[in-house]
Amino acid sequence: RGPELFDPQRRNSMGFDINRTSELSTIDLARRSAQITNAMPILSGEASPQEARDRHNPATESVLGAVANASDADVQAALSAALPWATSAAERAAVLRRASDLYERDFGAIFAILQKEGGKTILDAIGELREAVDFLRYYAAQAETSELPPRGVFVCISPWNFPLAIFTGQIAAALSTGNGVIAKPAEQTPLIAAHAIRLLHEAGVPRTALQFLPGEGATVGAALTSDQRIDGVAFTGSTETALAIRNAMAEHLAPDAPLIAETGGLNAMIVDSTALPEQAVRDIVASSFQSAGQRCSALRCLYIQSDVAEGLVEMLKGAMDELTIGDPWSYSTDVGPLIDKDAQKEIQAYIDQARSDGRLIKQSAAPSRGSFVGPALIRVDGIGDLEREVFGPVLHICTFEANEIEKVVDRINATGYGLTFGLHTRIDGRVQAVTDRIEAGNAYVNRNQIGAIVGSQPFGGEGLSGTGPKAGGPNYLPRFRRMAGQEVSG
Ligand code: NAD
Ligand code: ALA
Repeated sequence: RGPELFDPQRRNSMGFDINRTSELSTIDLARRSAQITNAMPILSGEASPQEARDRHNPATESVLGAVANASDADVQAALSAALPWATSAAERAAVLRRASDLYERDFGAIFAILQKEGGKTILDAIGELREAVDFLRYYAAQAETSELPPRGVFVCISPWNFPLAIFTGQIAAALSTGNGVIAKPAEQTPLIAAHAIRLLHEAGVPRTALQFLPGEGATVGAALTSDQRIDGVAFTGSTETALAIRNAMAEHLAPDAPLIAETGGLNAMIVDSTALPEQAVRDIVASSFQSAGQRCSALRCLYIQSDVAEGLVEMLKGAMDELTIGDPWSYSTDVGPLIDKDAQKEIQAYIDQARSDGRLIKQSAAPSRGSFVGPALIRVDGIGDLEREVFGPVLHICTFEANEIEKVVDRINATGYGLTFGLHTRIDGRVQAVTDRIEAGNAYVNRNQIGAIVGSQPFGGEGLSGTGPKAGGPNYLPRFRRMAGQEVSG
């Protein structure tokens, strides 16, 4: 095999049994989603769900069940009832730690939902659960070090690509600091979010302090972020949505209500002629194609020094031939499906356009059933050619001359995005010079550029990629607190 996306050591250290995780069948999931329909709204039994939408398994296209969206009445009920979590920091930390234990207890169900609803591979599902547990424990510990008051009630809005980890991280940050939370998951992944909410309530988070409103961004999300009863928004998703939320908040909320936004990126990597080609290829493949490229951190544009470009692209093509694309729940799978048919159509159309323009270098084959897209390499002149973030397994390739490194860094900075960046070189001085100059939240040297670890690699971007402060780092929680002298609402 070529580059390994799976780390067998890590897989074994989890010690989980694949047969056990597969026991949760589609029928179980359908039952679970029916429960969600019946249980909506989680806060009050009075209002009725607005509509029920079928959810499909992205790998098989089979129906998982129907999920209800919150109605306008649910949104109003949640906003009226939401309260900060008025107890000691120590008590909140104890509850969040209990929740982290419950997440680990339920790993089989969690892995199964992540796979069936989100199309996650085994490696991605493990990473997702670990990150969620880390967020709960890290913020619990961080929050115990300060008794500064909460802001009040936060709306937490999350994307589908980390439907457990980011969903949990935002909620844990807001709750650990004593805020109440109204959580709106992405419309594509309400089942895993509902499961997480159940575990948080089971651990002891009061219902007034944690409410759940699944629904569309344009209706439920927009109503929540433009209501003056809320005191702040934690958002992760696209840059366009963050800008829409910022405008809504500016119009309707108090001027000091914070928007903590983590958004998209046009992430680049530079590989110079001193890099070790085998290592670079392994890291390029992981950065671009793991999670089918559906990571905000994923590598989108690779700059290769022209002297080594031809050889490196040949090696990359060879490594792509070795990738297994298909059933996310098979140990041998490296690349699973895209989140849904809409995403598949959009990304494949983008690749087809490159093919007809004569810029497609290679696309790997993918299963025809399900929302799979074969990883693709596309030639471009530079990162400026990328009009937008292409959120799938598509890697753009460009070349540069030996004396052009500074120019390349300037071109990358000129996009205005600044999330992740990668550099492969064996020249020490170049590492310093390039990382000093690059405007990116997370820069990685001689490794892949995905999978930041809570507590040791705080994650977040600058410019169009986010407001900061970085999630999973020591500066994150203060944004959820009120400065001395400010009043707490609720
Ligand atoms: P998205 O912006 O379409 O949706 C994100 C969330 O916002 C969803 O819950 C959606 O329902 C909600 N939403 C949409 N319109 C809204 C509105 N007007 N008001 C309030 N809420 C609204 O993003 P997505 O497609 O779910 O996720 C992919 C994007 O997220 C990519 O751009 C990716 O780079 C980014 N992302 C960033 C990070 C990070 O940490 N920087 C992490 C993961 C994903
Ligand atoms: N935190 C995620 C990563 O680093 C987005 O890949």
